[in-house]
Amino acid sequence: MAKARNSYELRLMRKSGGIAAKALKKAIETISVGVSGVEVDEVVKREIYKLGGDLSYKTVPGYKYATCITVNEQVVHGIPTDRKFESGDLVSVDLAVMYKGWHTDCAWSVLVREQGTGNPPKARFEESKTRRARLAKGGRVQEEEKKKFLKTGEEALWDGIKQAVTGNRVGDISNAIQTKVEGAGYQVVRSLVGHGVGRSLHEDPEIPGFGEKGKGPVLKDGMTLAIEVIYAQGKSDVVLESDGWTFKTADNSWGGLFETSVIVGGKPEVLTGPNPTMG
Ligand code: MF3
Ligand code: CO
Repeated sequence: MAKARNSYELRLMRKSGGIAAKALKKAIETISVGVSGVEVDEVVKREIYKLGGDLSYKTVPGYKYATCITVNEQVVHGIPTDRKFESGDLVSVDLAVMYKGWHTDCAWSVLVREQGTGNPPKARFEESKTRRARLAKGGRVQEEEKKKFLKTGEEALWDGIKQAVTGNRVGDISNAIQTKVEGAGYQVVRSLVGHGVGRSLHEDPEIPGFGEKGKGPVLKDGMTLAIEVIYAQGKSDVVLESDGWTFKTADNSWGGLFETSVIVGGKPEVLTGPNPTMG
């Protein structure tokens, strides 16, 4: 079970989380059309080192990147690749920092949008006006749906964080996440969970994104947790890709990922925030 930390340990956790927050913000700012996951990973690695941190993922046997990057139907543990992001891609960045042996973990998902003038792409074929209008409308509807999908995950994370209060139970966090995600018509991925974080990247207790209020381990003042919203647009089943790391949805619906590390208290303290999309 995750131990409550003393104030010296919490100071180091805050420092670790501050580095993670800055690196995540940098990653989000870097993501745009034509940029690859490998490039984002490089930016994150440089930022973490510049700020005096180390790569927590080094402690995962066989993993040599600073981040996990997942696109569209991928959900977690994506290995950064050379594929360039395209307009409309849903991209998630997951990263963890180690500072003087103290780990913090965070992730965020964003929608990649075309930069520049907004000129329509050259039509390859002559299309009727009505067909063009229909296509443009379809694109907008898709974009709106993707934005709603991301907003739901972010809100679910905040709902979960609010439950990281002394005396609550793990199930209170889990249930808050599940309620928001399912309320919007999406599914929580059940085979992957949040976790305690601190002395190592993954510690007890497990923090599922689904469960019952009032159930599970009691949260104590000074515990440090990585709360994760791992969810899918469609069914919650995931499959492992042939690279042996990346999980994607079995039905190829979108995957989303929002994660922060927090200190449990009378008021939860977010270590790896604030919201990077709000600057
Ligand atoms: N950050 C991931 C998690 O949320 C762990 C990634 S482990 C890696 O727990 F090996 F895939 F990097
Ligand atoms: Co995690």
